Amino acid sequence: MTRFGVALALGATLAGAALAHDGVENEAVKARMMLMDGVKTATGTLGGMAKGEIEFDADKAGAARQALMEYAAKVPAAFEAQEMDPKSTALPAIWENWADFEAKAVAMGAAAEALDTSDLGWLQAGMGELGGTCAACHKAYRIKK
Ligand code: HEC
Repeated sequence: MTRFGVALALGATLAGAALAHDGVENEAVKARMMLMDGVKTATGTLGGMAKGEIEFDADKAGAARQALMEYAAKVPAAFEAQEMDPKSTALPAIWENWADFEAKAVAMGAAAEALDTSDLGWLQAGMGELGGTCAACHKAYRIKK
């Protein structure tokens, strides 16, 4: 990992909201954390609608579903290199069980794909499955902080 340009990139990042990945110096780690933040945002939109905290909107739900499928497809490439940072919550087990880690990313994409976002009832019915795929991977491959 080259440190070239890290200070500049950090400066630009810090201009944004305070996020868990603020202060992360390893660019690869920061990138995968930001990918997960995108996953969280899309899941939050769907979860908020499912719980009635956000007004249901089939177009917005469909866009969040699509984003989740795309993020899931990006997970393997984002995590493939064994990069670490003091602020990372990734466990080395990821690279010891790479095929399983990849399979868990595929499972998340499949759960997103299976969501029927045209109808609130169906969205609610599918959220448990989606949430289960986050938990399955985090439990095995992420430090609880
Ligand atoms: C294939 C495994 C995997 C799946 C599936 C997965 N995650 Fe993660 N997630 C991780 C790992 C590993 C980290 C820790 C990354 C790091 O700190 O380097 C993480 C970190 C995060 C973070 C913290 C990001 C940050 O800025 O520190 C959030 C939020 C998150 N995941 C949300 C989700 C949600 C929501 C889902 C389900 C829709 C999900 N993740 C599915 C592996 C996964």
